[in-house]
Amino acid sequence: MQPRDTYNDRVVRQFTIATIVWGVVGMAVGLLLAAQLAWPSLNFGVPWLSYGRLRPLHTNAVIFAFGGSGLFATAYYVVQRTCHVRLFAEKLAAFTFWGWQLAIVLAVVTLPLGLTQGKEYAELIWPIDILIAAVWVAYAIVFFGTIATRRVKHIYVANWFYGGFILAVAVLHIVNSIAIPVSLTESYPVYAGAVDAMVQWWYGHNAVGFFLTAGFLGIMYYYVPKQAQRPIYSYRLSVVHFWALISIYMWAGPHHLHYTALPDWAQSLGMVFSLILLAPSWGGMINGIMTLSGAWHKLRTDPILKFMIVSLSFYGMATFEGPMMSIKTVNALSHYTDWTIGHVHAGALGWVAFITIGAIYSMLPRLYGVERMHSIKAIDAHFWIATIGIVLYIAAMWIAGVMQGLMWRATNPDGTLTYTFIESVRQTYPYYVTRFVGGLLFLAGMGLMAWNAWKTIAQSRGVPVVRIPAPAHA
Ligand code: HEM
Ligand code: HEM
Repeated sequence: MQPRDTYNDRVVRQFTIATIVWGVVGMAVGLLLAAQLAWPSLNFGVPWLSYGRLRPLHTNAVIFAFGGSGLFATAYYVVQRTCHVRLFAEKLAAFTFWGWQLAIVLAVVTLPLGLTQGKEYAELIWPIDILIAAVWVAYAIVFFGTIATRRVKHIYVANWFYGGFILAVAVLHIVNSIAIPVSLTESYPVYAGAVDAMVQWWYGHNAVGFFLTAGFLGIMYYYVPKQAQRPIYSYRLSVVHFWALISIYMWAGPHHLHYTALPDWAQSLGMVFSLILLAPSWGGMINGIMTLSGAWHKLRTDPILKFMIVSLSFYGMATFEGPMMSIKTVNALSHYTDWTIGHVHAGALGWVAFITIGAIYSMLPRLYGVERMHSIKAIDAHFWIATIGIVLYIAAMWIAGVMQGLMWRATNPDGTLTYTFIESVRQTYPYYVTRFVGGLLFLAGMGLMAWNAWKTIAQSRGVPVVRIPAPAHA
């Protein structure tokens, strides 16, 4: 048994448990949405259960509550271990936990009530935005303070990704949320028209680039080598990967606004930067996957590694698909269709959720001073259930999306539309049911994980909490 409190792992444990809990909650809401799309009567005629109000609840819960808690947990875990010091400003670290949970609870209350700013992924009303900004500044102080007080000279590359993510999200959140309040729950944005749209998608796309990508690459760069017990394939590539990724992502936002009032040159600029983005994205994926060279046999026996390697494969898939969808002529087909939803969940379930799940399985036993997770078989079962779930989900959405796009653009020789809109909805029904089954499997896997974590934590009771000083200079 290892001593437990060399580092400040209390806040890491809290965020880890929050990740699992919010993962289950957020995905359960996603499943309800999937069911509502197939069987609309599940809206029950109750306003706060209606699709329009629950959809932002799902996106906020999975991205910011599940993904966000996972990022806090792993960043705090990694920065201490790679800098050989305890967290800087531990009270502030505790504030980030409680402040973040408060923001989530307020989101859970306000979104179903219909209180929203109406900007995707930035729906929360202004008082919550201010709370988020305060928590985020505290997060930056704790993280960079720990880096500043480190006992090793080198700053490990995972910390560069976490640091880039923390700084960029602060800028994005603050700039996009500037608004003039008119009451406690209402405000007007300071931007108008096409400028508002551009600022919103500069934010929205970089929420993908920094929240859903750079932060999780931080996870990848620490946990994949750790779990494989191999050094990262190429350290030089990881540095090139970092600088290329952060400098290119910032320019790609306009691909969300093709064929809109945004100036045409800006749309083309977004498209070109999106195409270039393929290179650093794949560089990172290859760097992660090749870390296993010489240790591929471990995949046979270690389901945690399976989660990580498959997550990198989905990362590669989503970052190939994204640049393709950013080509204007392709976007003319994919935009507004379920293809986008398929792309989102290839990234969200395949990449974001899988790498988070892998990291949690890897660090949870260490956090609680036990040798390993309660059941390795359950991890393996989780892996297979979830993988089948993702495949059903995204394959259904791809087929549905392309079908919808083709049906909407089909015309008769006299120029009239071949299909009415409702015909495309009717044709989509079997794919919505398939997506529901895929989502159900994915959620079942999360349930299995929650049970396994519970049992592992229970097993740790009685392990003495010994506080030893952090190691001296490396
Ligand atoms: C059991 C798992 C999940 C299910 C069943 C599910 C289901 C859904 C559904 C039904 C929608 C609405 C689609 C539409 O409007 O046509 C949606 C949207 C979305 N979900 Fe999920 N989801 C799950 C997990 C996740 C996770 C883990 C993430 C992120 C980490 C995520 C991120 C999103 C995002 C960003 C959208 C909005 C997409 C857009 O506007 O284009 N979902 N999800
Ligand atoms: C090279 C990388 C990527 C590029 C160039 C890219 C590009 C795109 C494009 C062109 C769209 C469709 C925009 C539209 O028609 O409205 C899109 C949507 C989206 N992508 Fe990606 N993508 C990339 C990677 C990812 C990854 C890794 C994720 C992770 C989860 C992700 C999440 C999303 C989300 C959430 C949306 C939906 C936004 C919305 O309309 O609400 N993307 N992406």
